Order: sequence, then C-alpha cells, then structure tokens
Amino acid sequence: MPYLGAIVCSTVLLTFFIAHLSRKLLSKPQARYVNPFDILLLLASPSQDSRSLLWSRATPNQRLIRVFQLTNTFVSDDSDVHASFVARARSLLSTSTGRGWRHWQKVAISATHHCLSQQEMPFDVFVQAVTMVTVVSGLLNPNADVADISADDAIFCAQEITSLWRLSKTGAEVDSNRLQKLNQRLRLLIPDAEKFPNPLDFVVPAWETLWRVVAAIIASTHTFPETSILEDYHNNPTLEQFRRRDATHGFSAADIVTEILRLHPPTKRISRALIPSSIFSKFILSFFGKYLVATADVEQSQRLPGIWGPNADLFDPRRHAGSSLDSDSQLLAFGCGKLRCIAASWAPLAAGGIAAAISVELHREGYHVVPGNTIGGRDGWAGWKVTRVEAVSTHTMGLSPN
Ligand code: HEM
Repeated sequence: MPYLGAIVCSTVLLTFFIAHLSRKLLSKPQARYVNPFDILLLLASPSQDSRSLLWSRATPNQRLIRVFQLTNTFVSDDSDVHASFVARARSLLSTSTGRGWRHWQKVAISATHHCLSQQEMPFDVFVQAVTMVTVVSGLLNPNADVADISADDAIFCAQEITSLWRLSKTGAEVDSNRLQKLNQRLRLLIPDAEKFPNPLDFVVPAWETLWRVVAAIIASTHTFPETSILEDYHNNPTLEQFRRRDATHGFSAADIVTEILRLHPPTKRISRALIPSSIFSKFILSFFGKYLVATADVEQSQRLPGIWGPNADLFDPRRHAGSSLDSDSQLLAFGCGKLRCIAASWAPLAAGGIAAAISVELHREGYHVVPGNTIGGRDGWAGWKVTRVEAVSTHTMGLSPN
C-alpha cells in the first residue's frame, strides 16, 4: 500500500502547514498605527460601508458586553442601533447646550460643594464623583437637582465602573452580582427606565471619558497664567470666553483643554477588527474564532516630535494659539471618519467647565490638591489627594506647592 503512506504523509504535512500558518496568523502582533495618515486610513477609509465599519469597531469591544452588558453602538454592528443611539445622544447634548454653559457651570459648582464632605479624599475619587454628579444633573437627567443626588451613590458607581473596566482588560470572570448592584445604584441616579433601559450605555461613553480629562486639566494647570485663564472662564462661562485668547498670554481655556486632549487623550487607542481579505484567512480566523485587530495609537500619535516639535511631551497650551496650525488637524482624541465622536465640540467646554469649577471652588472652600508624582489616566493617581488646609495661597488656586 504505497499510496496509503503518501496520503498519511501528505495529510500530516498539510495539517502541520495549516497549524503553522494559523499560528503565525493568530500570533502575529496586532498592527499598531502611530502615523496620523495611517490612522486616518484605518479609521476613515472611504471604501468601507457602514455595516462593516460598525462590525470592525464592535468586534474588539465585545469584552464590554461581558463586563457591562452594554447594548449600544460601541458593541453592535447593527445600523439601526447606531442610528437610534447616536440620535438619542445628540438630543441629550443639544438639550444640555440649549440650557447654556452658565447653567452647566452652576451644576458643576453645586456638584463640587456637594461632594466635598470630608477633610481629605483621594483626588481621582473626588473628580470622578463631581463629574458623575454633573453629568447626571447636567446631561442625562436634567430633572435631577444636584442636592437630590447621593454623592455616595455617585462615588460607588464611579469606582465600580472603573474597577470593572480594569477587569474587562484582563479577561477575568466578573461576578454578575457586581453588575447587578452597580445597575441598582445607577438607577437611583437615573430613574427613568423608559429613556434609559440600560443606563451604562450612556454613562460609560459620557462619564468615563470626561472625568479623566477633568482630572488631567486640574493636575496640569496649577501655575499662573493657566489658573487665571480657567478662572476667567469660570466667572464668565460662555463659548466666546472659552475661546478668547488672553491678551497678555496669548492662549485660551479652549487651548488648555485641546492641549490636555493631545497629551492625555482618554481614548488612548482605537481598535478595529480587520475584515479577512481572502477566503483562506476567513476560514482560519472564523475557525479559531479570532480576528486580527489593528490599533490606532492616538496617544503616541499626538506626541510625535515630527509634528509637535521637540517639546511634544510637554504641556504647552500656547502651541495651539495659532489654531490654523496644521498639527491641530492631526488631533485624534475624538477619532475620525464616520464614527467620530458626536460630542467633539461639546465635551471640551463641559470638561473645561467642571475643571474650572473644581479648581476655583476648592480654593474658595479652603482645600488644596496635593499632587502625586505623575498625571494618571484611569489609574495612576497614587499620592494625589484633596485636603482641607488652614491657610491657602492666593496664587495656586487650590493646588498645593507640593
Ligand atoms: C472628552 C470626552 C470624550 C472623548 C475623548 C470621546 C472620544 C470618542 C472617540 C475616540 C470616539 C470614536 C470611537 C471609535 O471610532 O471607535 C467616540 C465616539 C462617540 N462618542 Fe465620544 N468621547 C467623549 C465624550 C462623549 C460624550 C460626553 C458623549 C455623549 C453622549 C459621547 C458620545 C459618543 C458617541 C455616541 C460616539 C459614537 C459615534 C458614532 O458611532 O457615530 N462622547 N468618542
């Protein structure tokens, strides 16, 4: 039976070949793009239809279903889900804008006072709580008065979302009781179950990004003139004031926030599953249930010295002062293309307002922000705290010298 030997031999060889190729395919490091033009091609390819665009985004985000049971457009490839979620979010943003930035500022001020109950608090927890209360009363549930929102509920929800997000990255199993408890507490903040059947669908994209921008603004603006520019906006919270470049220093509150979004983008990486190009890779990938993922490294891209100069890693709002700068168009913190963030023009004012309210009101109430060693993101705020002091310097607007 010489044929049998040949058949066995070729079957073994073929199996070995397929296993080797699939191993190579699946162990291939994820493609990572840093150059803004490559990122543009990845995120805003004109040839991709809406359905495959949504699929490319939803596939790497499936971990958010496992952990948070999200049902929104970030985890779904359904065009109807996309259309209705985006329409609903746009309507919330336009209602908030319609109430005016003065109103937003009042909410942020009340939220700051509301969450200042202790002599000392971890800085990140405090910022998370104030941002949560402001987002609830100023955006998601405008019927809620800040005074009626429990700061304890806000802190619990904020910490639990952060902790679950961390878990989502590890692939570890999540105790379903945790999500249930989180949803129960969130329901106290957002009681309208008809408008918000799953509150996390809105809280995650809105709050989870905003609080980190607020924290980074406060942590980066403890010196003059940044402090006084934020204070000017706090005292006159209008779009004109936000964009007004200080005559002496030449930059605005908007420039400060843009610089923070450049250096500390909350969405550091945007991933897309790649649609398999050949039938073979389609077979291999679907057989193993895995997809190749390409990642736009927004954070690295926005710190390229070739675009932003040798001081690309330094906080310098002045760099945006001539906003016709080509480099400004290379900011990717809100993504790009058809799925770009719909809050891109709303969120900078919202975050700038909360940061200004916290900085000014802490100072007025006799509190300091004690800095840690580095500016964090979702984590990394060790050493940072908000603490009550007897004497407060008039020049540091609430941030202690060390
Ligand atoms: C500073 C704050 C924010 C940042 C940095 C941010 C960032 C982003 C990014 C990078 C994307 C694109 C994701 C992708 O391409 O996969 C996105 C999409 C989106 N964001 Fe934001 N976001 C912020 C605040 C908000 C807020 C407050 C809302 C309000 C509800 C919001 C609603 C959305 C929605 C609905 C989309 C999806 C748009 C679409 O699929 O057409 N974002 N955001």
